[in-house]
Amino acid sequence: MSDRATRRKLLVVANRAPVVYERRDGERTAKRGGGGLVTSLGGLLAHHDVTWIASAITDEDRAAAEEAGGAFAETTRDGSPYRQRLVVHDPEVYDRFYNVVANPTLWFVQHYLWGLGSAPDLGPEFHAAWRDGYVRVNEAFAEATLAELDRDPEAAVFFHDYHLYVAPRLVRERRPEVVTSHFVHIPWAEPDYWHALPEAQRRAVHEGLLANDVVGFHTDRWRCAFLDCCATLLGAQVDGNEVEWQGRRVAVTAHPIGIDADDFDRLRDDDAVLERERALVERRPERLVLRVDRTDPSKNVVRGFRAFGLLLEQHPELVGRVGMLALLAPSRQDIPAYADYVRAVEEAVVDVNRRFPGAIELDVADDFPRSVAGYKQFDVLLVNPVFDGLNLVSKEAPLVNERDGVLVLSENAGSHEELREWALTVNPFDLQGQADALAEALALPADERARRAEAIRAHVRAHDIRAWIDAQLADLDAAAARR
Ligand code: G6P
Repeated sequence: MSDRATRRKLLVVANRAPVVYERRDGERTAKRGGGGLVTSLGGLLAHHDVTWIASAITDEDRAAAEEAGGAFAETTRDGSPYRQRLVVHDPEVYDRFYNVVANPTLWFVQHYLWGLGSAPDLGPEFHAAWRDGYVRVNEAFAEATLAELDRDPEAAVFFHDYHLYVAPRLVRERRPEVVTSHFVHIPWAEPDYWHALPEAQRRAVHEGLLANDVVGFHTDRWRCAFLDCCATLLGAQVDGNEVEWQGRRVAVTAHPIGIDADDFDRLRDDDAVLERERALVERRPERLVLRVDRTDPSKNVVRGFRAFGLLLEQHPELVGRVGMLALLAPSRQDIPAYADYVRAVEEAVVDVNRRFPGAIELDVADDFPRSVAGYKQFDVLLVNPVFDGLNLVSKEAPLVNERDGVLVLSENAGSHEELREWALTVNPFDLQGQADALAEALALPADERARRAEAIRAHVRAHDIRAWIDAQLADLDAAAARR
């Protein structure tokens, strides 16, 4: 890990901030660290001089931003100081950005969530939302970034994710000398699927990313898809891992993100976790199949329940002995496809439990300590996403698990590139294959379970968040040296 001597000035630009403000009993309270991206980047804040630029999301965020009139001092959960700058958006503009373009459109393209016979329908409201939502939020982020660069021209800029594809180009136009990287935390779709978007938008996405010096992905699979898109959709020259675009060379890299193992070592004995673990242990079935996800169609919860139902149908000896616990954090509920998905999830549980009473326990709540309690207690962890950029659960849960639980992992999860050797691989659409994998996981002998679980733990510890941050910084240095 970089020490004090190599501390550097970084502008992290992401839709979500490490701290969200709320007003309780007339007082401003800070709620720390929701979301994988924000949790993962904690280490960056501890070791470098970071200004984090993010959207003001709550009313209290907006109040804090307006009072400060720019960046202000904050501290992370473990007490590291950093500067936070919240960008205030008009609520309607933000709604179009988040609830029309970023999630139901870009997220859906990149996770292949549409059956193209029926979706998407990109009517005038989509075009308006692109222009008066997505682009405007990106312009506001670019303005905030430029203001911070005026204060600190030496800082490198580190953009994150699919919310901000347009901003880097706006920054580059005004500050051609600044070094920027952009990490995409979600998959990249193959060129043909990008044709589900009109040319203007798919060009803007790719050209926006190519305004950076470095574009990063979790896996080689997403990296290669992006390189193919640059060649096919833009006609850019691709040379190995570099794209030549408008007289500049852009490095396209792949580094799977890790987790903060020390943080999880602490969480294992956290009071809130222990309390929930006691409750879980009191009621747990003999063998526990766990899943922990956001309620997102990309996570493939419904097929997971159907596969579990199939398992019980085909293995009557397991009925009453094996139970499934699904801990799902509600997500993006203002978007109809997400609200519908929660209903589909609930119906799938009712269907299985009608045939096998009490077989599935579904808990839709935002309760991270409960998830960690589940992590400790599972015998089988089902991670079967349709597509997933990486999937942090597949690293977090095995690290703290105390029963040598078996990981059943989708071949379309980014973490499959790293963990496949020790997991049981499933195709996320193959219900029979998933039922078979669950049966196999439950039948694995103890020594084989221990061997696999230990190998995953060792991998996760050896490739933790520090290694990922160092790789990002090395990419930035290499980009600066190429100039
Ligand atoms: C994914 C994305 C993140 C996002 C998170 C939660 O992990 O890569 O950028 O923050 O989902 O989604 P939300 O819409 O609640 O920010």
